[in-house]
Amino acid sequence: MRIVTDIPSLAELPNAHLVPTMGALHDGHAALIRNAREHAGDDGTVVVSIFVNPAQFNEPSDFDAYPRTLDTDAAICARLGVDAIFAPAVEAMYPPGELERPVELPSVATEPGLEDRFRPGHFEGVYRVCRRLFEVTGARRAYFGEKDWQQLQLMRALVAQESLPLEIVPVPTVRERDGIALSSRNVHLTTADRARALAISRALVEAGRHADPDAAEAAGAQVLRASDIRPEYLAVRDAETLGPVRPGRPGRVLAAAPVGATRLIDNAPWPGFTLPR
Ligand code: PAF
Repeated sequence: MRIVTDIPSLAELPNAHLVPTMGALHDGHAALIRNAREHAGDDGTVVVSIFVNPAQFNEPSDFDAYPRTLDTDAAICARLGVDAIFAPAVEAMYPPGELERPVELPSVATEPGLEDRFRPGHFEGVYRVCRRLFEVTGARRAYFGEKDWQQLQLMRALVAQESLPLEIVPVPTVRERDGIALSSRNVHLTTADRARALAISRALVEAGRHADPDAAEAAGAQVLRASDIRPEYLAVRDAETLGPVRPGRPGRVLAAAPVGATRLIDNAPWPGFTLPR
């Protein structure tokens, strides 16, 4: 496995199957990488990008505090059969002028009032870095976790808007046995908060028991309240546009909530979600 830091060397990695990450890899990333390895077969090159993207952080202190664990990440990638890690410096990703390039965010990143509302500027940074990653790697496929559902829809919209010859491959959320979705933020939860956080996946299950969106949202919110969690949102939406649900189209229930000092997000198909046993 190679570790590449410069853009010209990416030309030696044809037919790239890209797994964009910010490092601190966990089993959720491992699922993305396994998917990429399977799709890429013997002809494709699996490239994992590791770049802590300053443009998508709301607080500079969060960017500084973000874990940088390249040695451990490299060991995980090697074990999973990755061909190359692309770990560029900020200057390589954002040469002069790149941050001034216009970004026209698709409506799925500006209108739903979900992550777009609570993390202003975040999706502009994600759009910027992914557009650049897709361009410099020339990737044929890029793999994104369903856990960041709004980000996944943004990626689909980006590819359509920029007319990129790239397929976005969604990979299901990986959960612990008790239902909590894997996230690099989970390590920040205290034992008590970790127990309370289980209410989030339970709220998605409860919402899924109601076929009426208002009743579903109320039932989900009730589960969170019972664990003393105040959600930023718990919303039932059209799975693709993230606008209001429409008859005959897939729905999604999405939630974000601070649990102690840690902000968590999760989502599930709606209606009718059950946790794997
Ligand atoms: O989901 C993430 O880890 C990041 O938002 C991504 C897609 C790697 C862009 O920095």
